Amino acid sequence: MRATPSTPDTAAAVPGPRGGAVLGNLAEFTENPLGFVTSAVREHGDVVALGTGNVLLAHPGDVERVLVDRDGAFTKTSTRTLTRTRRRGFPDAMMNSDGARWRAKRDRVGHGFSRSLVATAADVTLAGAARLAADLPTGRPVDPAPAVARHALRGITRLMFGRAVDDADADAVGRLVDCVMRASTSPVALPGWLPTPANVRMRRALGEVDDVVARIAAGTSGDGPVLAALLADRPPRAELRDELATLVLSGFETTKNAVLWTCDLLARHPDHADRVAAEMTAAVSARHAGAGLLEALPSTSAVVRESLRLFPPAWLTSRESTRDEEFGGHRVPAGTTVTVSQWVTHRDPRWFPDPDGFRPARWSGTGPGAPRGAYFPFGLGPRACIGAAVALAEVVVTVADLARRFHLTLATPARPRPALSLQPDGLRLSFTARARGG
Ligand code: HEM
Repeated sequence: MRATPSTPDTAAAVPGPRGGAVLGNLAEFTENPLGFVTSAVREHGDVVALGTGNVLLAHPGDVERVLVDRDGAFTKTSTRTLTRTRRRGFPDAMMNSDGARWRAKRDRVGHGFSRSLVATAADVTLAGAARLAADLPTGRPVDPAPAVARHALRGITRLMFGRAVDDADADAVGRLVDCVMRASTSPVALPGWLPTPANVRMRRALGEVDDVVARIAAGTSGDGPVLAALLADRPPRAELRDELATLVLSGFETTKNAVLWTCDLLARHPDHADRVAAEMTAAVSARHAGAGLLEALPSTSAVVRESLRLFPPAWLTSRESTRDEEFGGHRVPAGTTVTVSQWVTHRDPRWFPDPDGFRPARWSGTGPGAPRGAYFPFGLGPRACIGAAVALAEVVVTVADLARRFHLTLATPARPRPALSLQPDGLRLSFTARARGG
């Protein structure tokens, strides 16, 4: 139960860890972000100041209040964050818009993310899985990330751009995504016109993707539902590029990491791996496809949901408050960066008993019975992930097919590395072909 809200005038300031006088908690946060946010909540409670002007909210009720935002008290693209993302590319994308402009874009792009796209995602992923399997060295410990990254990039590029793209195009998109990832994790953002190596690389990568987009836009009225939705009102080419590139960017790195984390977990839990393998073997021999394939994989789906709880690729999400607010008796002034963390709330024992344990059975039947805001790997509310169902289809089919083909053995377990998305750092696995029917 939460305390009755007081008015912002009478509410207390938010408690939090005491950082240094100049940098606040920046050093501690940078050194160990996951440990820092976890212990901040453990020591100071559900409403905690991470530093000046930044408050973390851990209670599911507050997570829901901020992300669902029924009365418009929080904005995603404040002037501050917008300036940052604009400097780093894709100013015209839906993801970097707000208000009426975002709504119009989301409605339009939303037409493309239909149920049929989810079914196509299952089929495209299954078609690409044989190539992934061939790409993975077997019988010795390897870092699976490069092969899984290529698989995820080929899949998402095909889904967003349609059949018109080939591997060279996917590689061009990959290079752009890589430049953007580096720019957004780099501590310094020099002006784009400076001919630094990073800026030159970024400009070249943008040019390559422009060429791909130009060819696609000229040659087709929209091959694939997302591209068709985007082309419907003939956007300027730069806008089309921004939209497609952010869709690939948001869908590629997250999905790759979800697959890798799930492989790590299956390697630690061979009983679950065997169940997933048996389920996929049966689905493939029954020639299930599209939505039918996904329906035939309930155990894999539970494994993936549990993996997204323990290792949420998006581990932190922020908004800015547009007016004074009150959370749990504490005053949060207008202009505060309000942060919620999947990593913190997903591992709270109040909502998930044995929170660090891998228990896919939580997701069977009616689910874990946790409040809505306790589990939000894809966010919540109007700005929730537009690609959630597509991502689930890709991850479920990929890991099911890997488990069907291989025994997974853990050589070096992954450490969570919170970059733009939560990466499994140092993961090394051995893939050994399963005996036919075994
Ligand atoms: C496991 C994979 C994925 C995870 C964990 C994930 C997570 C998220 C989260 C948490 C948000 C909300 C951020 C916020 O509230 O500020 C989001 C938004 C978004 N995601 Fe995903 N995502 C995944 C895959 C995808 C895929 C495959 C696509 C596209 C094909 C995609 C496209 C987007 C877009 C465009 C938005 C912004 C929506 C808007 O601003 O209205 N994501 N994602």
